[in-house]
Amino acid sequence: MKPVKVGICGLGTVGSGTFNVLKRNAEEIARRAGRGIEVAQIAQRRPNPHCDTGSTPITADVLAVADNPEIDVVVELIGGYTLARELVLRAIANGKHVVTANKALIAVHGNEIFARAREQGVIVAFEASVAGGIPVIKALREGLAANRINWVAGIINGTGNFILSEMREKGRTFLNVLAEAQALGYAEADPTFDVEGIDAAHKLTILASIAFGIPLQFDKAYTEGITRLTTADVGYAEALGYRIKHLGVARSTAQGIELRVHPTLIPADRLIANVNGVMNAVMVNGDAVGSTLFYGAGAGREPTASAVVADLVDVVRAMTSDPENRVPHLAFQPDALSDHPVLPIESCESAYYLRIQAKDHPGVLAQVASILSARGINIESIMQKEAEEHDGLVPMILITHRVTERHMVEAITALEALDDVIGDVVRIRVEHLN
Ligand code: HSE
Repeated sequence: MKPVKVGICGLGTVGSGTFNVLKRNAEEIARRAGRGIEVAQIAQRRPNPHCDTGSTPITADVLAVADNPEIDVVVELIGGYTLARELVLRAIANGKHVVTANKALIAVHGNEIFARAREQGVIVAFEASVAGGIPVIKALREGLAANRINWVAGIINGTGNFILSEMREKGRTFLNVLAEAQALGYAEADPTFDVEGIDAAHKLTILASIAFGIPLQFDKAYTEGITRLTTADVGYAEALGYRIKHLGVARSTAQGIELRVHPTLIPADRLIANVNGVMNAVMVNGDAVGSTLFYGAGAGREPTASAVVADLVDVVRAMTSDPENRVPHLAFQPDALSDHPVLPIESCESAYYLRIQAKDHPGVLAQVASILSARGINIESIMQKEAEEHDGLVPMILITHRVTERHMVEAITALEALDDVIGDVVRIRVEHLN
């Protein structure tokens, strides 16, 4: 059988990795796919020293790949929303299958892209868009298809996890570690996407749709970054038996779906709390399977290429199948997606870590406890440190039981209004993941 012809658009980190893995493992890949996979064209702006493209035809125009009648599958690895969207829609309109690693594109424009793909009977595969080399989309969409998914929780941004790991292990400051993460090449072109949780929210949006069968709704995801975390909070969390991770949480409740990315305290003895450096991990809890954990490299040249090439193999295997009988893009049949709402953050529920800076007076703790109890907020543990030498203030650290965000915001407003409480109350959500 003739090889399937692929056009790679973008020869950066992931594009060069994809080219190299396809070349190096060509024989194994053909044995798996049932046909060879040949890179018939590359669109690149500049040569990549990590990649010897040999005699493969090169163009600077990505749209020329989408219009090339020779090409069966367009691999979109240029990133961004604008040209990438145009490229993918053009490829689909021309009847080509698409493989992409672009989480922003899928999270923001995925509903439109999948609708066009269904009309054309083509596949859009996007395993590499979430958690790099970890095949979590495949696991969630196919391996866990028997389950009602209760929740998904993941460390899905390697840059943020690297920063938090270094802050905890070496007491380094946030900015100092960010500079290193950028130098290592893990950070997004705009690193605020990493540290403000936008990149993780793109990935979580995709996971939530596949887990719960809802349309992609990135605009409803709550995102809170890690830029305001201090080494003091990292240390206090540690003393209380927790680690701080930048977690994406998607939870199904009777009222709706929680979709939130924020710094989170996790008990230090959970496996996921021990995922360090640039590694990613995703926990999925289903009613039949219980909790599962998927771990691996969430970024990088060949780990991400691993996912792109696996998608290519899937596309080749499915090319001859009836489009109606393929695995649906978002796991659920498109006419069976649910309108269960995504909840605003005020309606989400979690436990909380609070750090209150108080004057060293009798009765302050009683006032704090009274504000919390008046709102039905139960304290799980409390730690009071000695007064700080420089300001004489006493750091008071509490962990609460689960409470709705709305009630916690009310309580924090009341705490900050106390004469003996100085400055803002630091609040970090806590998830026990059990
Ligand atoms: N900037 C991302 C990360 C790359 O740090 O995880 C992979 O999406």
